[in-house]
Formats: sequence, C-alpha cells, structure tokens
Amino acid sequence: MTTGTAPFLREFLRDPVRTASALPSSRSLARAVTAPVPETGDPVVVELGAGTGALTDLIAEKLGGRGHQLAVELNPRLAALLARRHPGLDVAATGAAELPRLLAERGLAGADVVVSGLPWAAYPARGPQLTDVIAGTLHDGGALTQFGYAATRWAPPARRLRQRLGEAFEEVVVGRTISGNLPPAFVLTARRPRRSH
Ligand SMILES: C[S@@+](CC[C@H](N)C(=O)[O-])C[C@H]1O[C@@H](n2cnc3c(N)ncnc32)[C@H](O)[C@@H]1O
Repeated sequence: MTTGTAPFLREFLRDPVRTASALPSSRSLARAVTAPVPETGDPVVVELGAGTGALTDLIAEKLGGRGHQLAVELNPRLAALLARRHPGLDVAATGAAELPRLLAERGLAGADVVVSGLPWAAYPARGPQLTDVIAGTLHDGGALTQFGYAATRWAPPARRLRQRLGEAFEEVVVGRTISGNLPPAFVLTARRPRRSH
C-alpha cells in the first residue's frame, strides 16, 4: 500500500475538491513528476501540495541531503503528518501562493525545481495567477512539473491551466498517460519562465 493511504482517504472524504484524489500518488507517477530534480549540486526543490509525502519521499531520496527541500501543504493535518514522518524536512503548512514569501524567509533567491501535486482548484480562474507566481520564483534554468488525472485532461480547469502555463513559460510539454497510477495521470513540464509579460 502507498504511504499514507488511510489519512489521505480520510482527508479526501472531508474535502474532495481540495484533496483531489482518494489515493496518494504511485511510485511510477512520483518518478515521472520528480524527473527534473538534478542528480548533482545543491538545488532548491519545492513541492506544492505535498499530501502524505508520496513525492516527498522520492525527492528526498534523489537529493540525499543535498540542497534545500521545501514541502508546502495547505491542509494542517496532512502537513503535521508529513513533518512527523520526515523529521528535519522543511514543511510549510500554508497555501502555494505564499511561495515567494516562504523562499524569502529562508534566504533562498529562488527555486530550481517546483514539483506540484496541486489540484486544478488551486489555480483560480480570476485574480493573481499562481502560474505567474511559480514562474517568478524559478531560476532561468528551472522547471515546474504539475501532474493531473487523465480523466480530467480536457476539462475546462485543465485547459485553462495549460493556457496559463503557456503564458508564464516558453515551453510546456505534456507527458504520456501513466496508467500504473490510480487514477491514471499525466505530467505537464514547464521550462524557461517568461520574464516580460
Ligand atoms: C492530489 S493531492 C497530491 C498529494 C501528494 N502530492 C501526492 O502526490 O500523493 C493534492 C494536495 O494538495 C493540497 N492542496 C490543495 N490546495 C493547496 C494549496 N493551495 N496550497 C498547498 N497545498 C494545497 C491538498 O491538501 C492535497 O494534499
């Protein structure tokens, strides 16, 4: 069973829209979504919507103590669980839109990789765009990965997010469906944040 299945299901039943899935991500999805985490150097890697840590575990394995790993999780119960399970991990129990403040408070100039498990609902249709906020925190060579569920690939919120990513980044690549995940999922990878829009 994937790490944190029971608490994740409990939180899904409490708030299905914000939690977005009844199950944590599988190892195959975690591998795809963490692909840009560099194998060398001291990168700043941020995870948005960390849940019970299905991606956190793999990021920590890949970093092996290098750089800085920051996990952002809005649900305080899941954030507390994550902090208990990962002693020493930098966990922020707040919303993803706080990312610039979180980095500044830590004296970090920006992020090298942002890995997002945020639900579509976290990207509001109106107001300041979270895609712009994330792009603004990434270094020039940085990358954002965002996974979504294949069944919702063509739903209006998913299409809107694709468009917003295209406005905030020069390159957006849509990955193949990962059918080994329940539910089947895909990964969007955005690179080269635009600085001028
Ligand atoms: C689909 S789950 C992904 C959980 C985990 N990353 C995984 O892959 O198993 C989405 C997570 O995003 C969190 N979340 C929702 N809106 C958020 C926001 N605005 N900022 C930070 N986390 C948020 C939810 O509480 C939930 O844990």
